[in-house]
Amino acid sequence: MKTNILVTGGAGFIGSNFIPYFLERYSEYNVVNLDLLTYAGNIDNLKEIQDNPRYKFIRGDICNRELVEFIFNEYSINGVIHFAAESHVDNSIKTPDVFIKTNINGTHTLVDVAYRFWMEKPFVYDQKYSNDGSSDEGTTLPRFHHISTDEVYGTLGLTGLFTESTPYAPNSPYSASKAGSDMIVRSYRHTYGLNTIITNCSNNYGPKQHDEKLIPTIIRNALKGNPIPIYGDGKNIRDWLYALDHCKAIDLAYHSGKAGETYNIGGRNEKDNNYVATKICQTLDELKSKKEGSYRDQITHVEDRAGHDRRYAIDASKIKNDLGWKAEENFESGILKTVEWYLTKYEG
Ligand SMILES: NC(=O)c1ccc[n+]([C@@H]2O[C@H](COP(=O)([O-])OP(=O)(O)OC[C@H]3O[C@@H](n4cnc5c(N)ncnc54)[C@H](O)[C@@H]3O)[C@@H](O)[C@H]2O)c1
Repeated sequence: MKTNILVTGGAGFIGSNFIPYFLERYSEYNVVNLDLLTYAGNIDNLKEIQDNPRYKFIRGDICNRELVEFIFNEYSINGVIHFAAESHVDNSIKTPDVFIKTNINGTHTLVDVAYRFWMEKPFVYDQKYSNDGSSDEGTTLPRFHHISTDEVYGTLGLTGLFTESTPYAPNSPYSASKAGSDMIVRSYRHTYGLNTIITNCSNNYGPKQHDEKLIPTIIRNALKGNPIPIYGDGKNIRDWLYALDHCKAIDLAYHSGKAGETYNIGGRNEKDNNYVATKICQTLDELKSKKEGSYRDQITHVEDRAGHDRRYAIDASKIKNDLGWKAEENFESGILKTVEWYLTKYEG
């Protein structure tokens, strides 16, 4: 008998890297993908699995409780991996409302339905659980895995790393909404003993990312001969992780992480935006050189993002030491694969 897992937001960037990987790796799972297909979702991201009998797509809103309850009942959902979110910081500055609704209310709807479905039924939940949030109690229950971000920790100076015990200090409406959703999931562990995992990951890059994000924006504008826009002085630092490495970490945490724990995920690939743009241009120069000059000549500094966090960097030693995960790609190997993928997308 197969286990039915609900994946939310599977038509987005990371979810659409995750589902094919997961289906390929585990023949014992069926995946139900609940995705609203907002502007950020792209069903074509999942073409490769659309006919897979172990995959089912449902277009719908995670905030729609009736629908979420229907899915849990209809498919006897036995695990959740929750990606769905509004995810673009710039949009959260312009229109925070939808971030609060999807990221906070949507996460609450999911986690509450999961709790009621898995734990209010006496035949499922007949054991005591502890309140310390980190015991093994409840690990036999289905698991709710919440995908979150390192942005909940705020910004760093030139030194230091985010650990799992760094206090939350979100600075944008996006990161505040993700911090809120983390807290809700945490509370369902502490209050009800739900089998939860939270993973907080650094910036991802790789195939299938929406055009609005930094790396696709750099590649697209470079190829079009347009200015390549870089915020402010370009010295903002992010800890870049190849999306498939993130997917492998999620897989590991979902299967082997300890109930109630949070795990930071990052590749120790701290790069500032100037380096990112320059490296991409250099890669493009090698793969598809311009008639004259370098793509680097198109880099243009534009007005900085409001409240732009200066530096994020992750200490991923907990997931490394406890679960044995480490990133397989470094920035240079991952960016080569990424640029090759976008060259096919943009140039055919
Ligand atoms: N991209 C990153 O660098 C990064 C880093 C760390 C954590 N995360 C987290 O990972 C998750 C996935 O990020 P992503 O970059 O793939 O995002 P994305 O914006 O590419 O995809 C989000 C997906 O969620 C769907 N969605 C949005 N609102 C929905 C709703 N109300 N109901 C159902 N589906 C809805 C969209 O249609 C889309 O397919 C998010 O929770 C994000 O916070 C992302």
